[in-house]
Amino acid sequence: METPERRYMLDNDGAEAPDRFAVLARRYDAHTRDCLDRLGLAPGARCLEVGAGAGSVAAWMADRVAPDGSVLATDLKPAPSTTPRANLAVRRHDIVRDPLPEGEFDIAHARLVLMHLPDRLTALANMVRALRPGGGLLVEDFALAHAPVLETPDTESTALFAEVHDAFVRVMAGAGADIRWAERSFAAAREVGLTDLRTSVFTETWRGGGDGIALHRVNTRQLRTELVQGGVAPERLERFWALLDDPAFAVTSYSLVSVWGRKPLRPQLI
Ligand SMILES: C[S@@+](CC[C@H](N)C(=O)[O-])C[C@H]1O[C@@H](n2cnc3c(N)ncnc32)[C@H](O)[C@@H]1O
Repeated sequence: METPERRYMLDNDGAEAPDRFAVLARRYDAHTRDCLDRLGLAPGARCLEVGAGAGSVAAWMADRVAPDGSVLATDLKPAPSTTPRANLAVRRHDIVRDPLPEGEFDIAHARLVLMHLPDRLTALANMVRALRPGGGLLVEDFALAHAPVLETPDTESTALFAEVHDAFVRVMAGAGADIRWAERSFAAAREVGLTDLRTSVFTETWRGGGDGIALHRVNTRQLRTELVQGGVAPERLERFWALLDDPAFAVTSYSLVSVWGRKPLRPQLI
């Protein structure tokens, strides 16, 4: 049996990446901003944005902490739209392997990054190490397996959605993603020593032809080859994409599970 490929499947070089980042920003940035505010993001803060993608959160943080605060936005492959400016630096960086300054940041954030990484606990510990004592960490991931159909034109459409979505989840899991990580992230944050833990979950309805449901289209288009290799017939994929345009069809969005906490002031507690 072949060893599954352990790599980030939804690569930023894919033609679909800009559309994915745009949907994520439109559907989830408001929730992320709210969590960062609740964590205490304020002018003057030094921030670390890990796996920044197209940089919408990093850019917002840079505005929020200006003029004296700063943001370091990192990514394995920073998207071209992540534009550096006076208080926003962009660095190509692997959160698992590459070093970061220790005890440097007031706030660290990663959205939809840890779930994809086989070494996610190392990445989480690296982020905590980069925080100053008392600094705040926010990690956010999708409960990927949970995408129930809310409304359907017929039962065949429910089965079609489940078939393609289940295959998508299998491809992601085969590449090292932990589809249950979002549920485990709270306990993991405790295990790496964070205190004052809080959580908030954001979900909404995604209707056919609407904005959010396009995330299913861009993800499955990017992984078309792997889905077909995984047993989804090309014509089933075509019907799936047509279903995503049908206003009689609606699903629950991916739930974004946001967990935040603080690094203790006394380092020996870590
Ligand atoms: C699903 S995207 C999320 C992007 C952004 N955080 C957002 O929510 O819009 C995951 C991002 O993590 C980056 N990434 C994957 N593995 C990484 C690693 N080991 N270190 C740093 N970034 C990584 C990818 O390049 C990609 O930009």
